[in-house]
Amino acid sequence: MVPFPMFWRPMAVADLPSVFTLACAIHVDFFEAFEVMADKLAAYPAGGLTLARSEGGIGGYVLSHPYARDRVPKLNQMLGGLPAEADIYYIHDVAIDAAARGQGHADAAVEILTEHARSAGFTEMRLLSVNNSTAFWSRKGFAAIQETSVDVSSYGEDAVYMGKLL
Ligand SMILES: CC(C)(COP(=O)(O)OP(=O)(O)OC[C@H]1O[C@@H](n2cnc3c(N)ncnc32)[C@H](O)[C@@H]1OP(=O)(O)O)[C@@H](O)C(=O)NCCC(=O)NCCS
Repeated sequence: MVPFPMFWRPMAVADLPSVFTLACAIHVDFFEAFEVMADKLAAYPAGGLTLARSEGGIGGYVLSHPYARDRVPKLNQMLGGLPAEADIYYIHDVAIDAAARGQGHADAAVEILTEHARSAGFTEMRLLSVNNSTAFWSRKGFAAIQETSVDVSSYGEDAVYMGKLL
């Protein structure tokens, strides 16, 4: 059977319950409350993407927003708006339902985010890689930032702070 197609579209506030359910299933070690996810989307609505299934439901999501160089939002804490010195574009999370992986959806999301960040005037994207995703991000041109004062402790010892010039 040919799977129903999926496509990225802007995340709507109405998507948040489905996004939260998927996040809980994928990020078992990195729980974030519904309110925290809603706060991130509210802080920067253009940074939210939903991988919509044409038959209904979602197959993945993205949360991203401008942020300050060498700072990382603590896990499961409200952003409470964007910092005044937001000088990089920060990818908080790209997550694809296990059944929808390996089909290029994460690749496509990173392309969309890259175009968005460039057109918004940013010259660098940054993220914290978790869940053994460092190899994925390296393929997308991100490299570990060695000398940084950033505090990654709330994401565990394996988290890697990475960046890419646009
Ligand atoms: C990492 C993740 C987003 C990749 O999603 P995906 O839709 O399977 O990725 P894609 O199909 O777009 O893969 C694009 C390329 O990256 C490769 N790739 C995917 N996941 C990879 C990984 N973990 N390590 C190395 N390469 C990876 C694919 O093989 C593919 O390569 P190809 O173009 O040569 O075929 C997905 O595994 C996921 O949701 N993981 C759990 C959430 C997570 O940890 N997100 C990252 C948080 S920082």
